[in-house]
Amino acid sequence: MTPTEQLQQADAQAIWHPFTPLTTSPVPLPIQSAKGTYLYTTDGRQIIDAIASWWVNLHGHSHPHIANAIATQAQRLEHVIFAGFTHEPAIQLAQRLLQILPNNQNKIFFSDNGSTATEVAMKMAFQYFHNKGIRRKKIIALEGAYHGDTFGAMSVGERSPFNAPFQPYLFDVEFIALPTEENKEIVLKQFEDLLATQEVAAFIFEPLVQGASGMRMYSAKLLDTLIQKAQAAEVICIADEVMTGFGRTGKLFASLYLEHYPDIICLSKGITGGFLPLGVTACTEKIISAYREDDLMKTFFHGHSYTANPIVCAAANANLDVLLEKNCLADIQRITQQHQAFAELCKQYTTVENVRCLGTIFALDMVTSQETSYINEARSKLYPYFLAKNILLRPLGNVLYILPPYCISNEDLEQVYQAILELM
Ligand SMILES: Cc1ncc(COP(=O)(O)O)c(C=O)c1O
Repeated sequence: MTPTEQLQQADAQAIWHPFTPLTTSPVPLPIQSAKGTYLYTTDGRQIIDAIASWWVNLHGHSHPHIANAIATQAQRLEHVIFAGFTHEPAIQLAQRLLQILPNNQNKIFFSDNGSTATEVAMKMAFQYFHNKGIRRKKIIALEGAYHGDTFGAMSVGERSPFNAPFQPYLFDVEFIALPTEENKEIVLKQFEDLLATQEVAAFIFEPLVQGASGMRMYSAKLLDTLIQKAQAAEVICIADEVMTGFGRTGKLFASLYLEHYPDIICLSKGITGGFLPLGVTACTEKIISAYREDDLMKTFFHGHSYTANPIVCAAANANLDVLLEKNCLADIQRITQQHQAFAELCKQYTTVENVRCLGTIFALDMVTSQETSYINEARSKLYPYFLAKNILLRPLGNVLYILPPYCISNEDLEQVYQAILELM
């Protein structure tokens, strides 16, 4: 047995992988190391990580500035309980996030990942009304939404075969269609009717791009209209920027494309550049003011053992250093332009449709005999096709997308584009 096979066998004996069927999936590839855009397997392959390892890796793997910040912090203060205590890395991170987030954001609440960031957002919104003695139980979400895999996050996500076993346990949610130029009147009417009940506490959405349901893009103008109407009806608007945050859409946050800023913003994924897990839920003064009461029962009783872990915060601070450098912002523009040119090229082919891009996100739908969805069988051919070419792309059904680290070179991007063109 080769050393790689030994690792695979040991893995199979001890580990249960996420989102992975147990009997039909190929054995996982052991990765020895990673640098910049590349993953290196234990048997010597160099793979282009064209999806930034589930959308987290902003600046390439093993970035020395972030790695050093983690090592330094680990030797100074590795962790301390975050109730009754605080520390500089968390304070610095909160201040820096508030400087770059939409300017209505006022406080930062830390948690561990994207799902917890959205759970916290919903709990903040529900308790906001509870603290004010107002009865509002409903929440509006968008069809096709994905906000994570915990129960609250699943509840506001699209009902799908993936959450079918849990559906009896999910709370009721009012879903509206993703607004388009064609359906906008119907969607707006439905939205207004829901607001008029005065029972809606919150409206949650992935701004401009719904990631997991197939990089479905929609207009900032239509979202702005929904937010404006919701806020006029005192409904709390929650932007889940777990995927869109930190430059993905061309601006630092997708909410910055809007005129009406959300009341709560959820962040994770790119926040540490892919080094360590962290969730952030930012909110406005209006939200936190409902908690600023002497009554103990108005406290936000939510927290996690590793809340604001100093090493994680140091990684996030170092990640911001790199992100806000001129070079990185220029890389985001460069990738945006490359994607746009490639999108124009792709539009000439009849084997693909719905070619789209926003910032560093590029996506298209492969035309197949099945409808576009996560369970479209095209994925089972596409994923190995790219991997055989040493490119990591993980199509969402028949939706092919590229979401690279910002350091990807034009040559590597070209290699990814060529592999896609060869399919057409
Ligand atoms: C928009 C959005 N929200 C929440 C999540 C959940 O994040 P996590 O996987 O870190 O729990 C994801 C993950 O893909 C996401 O795309």
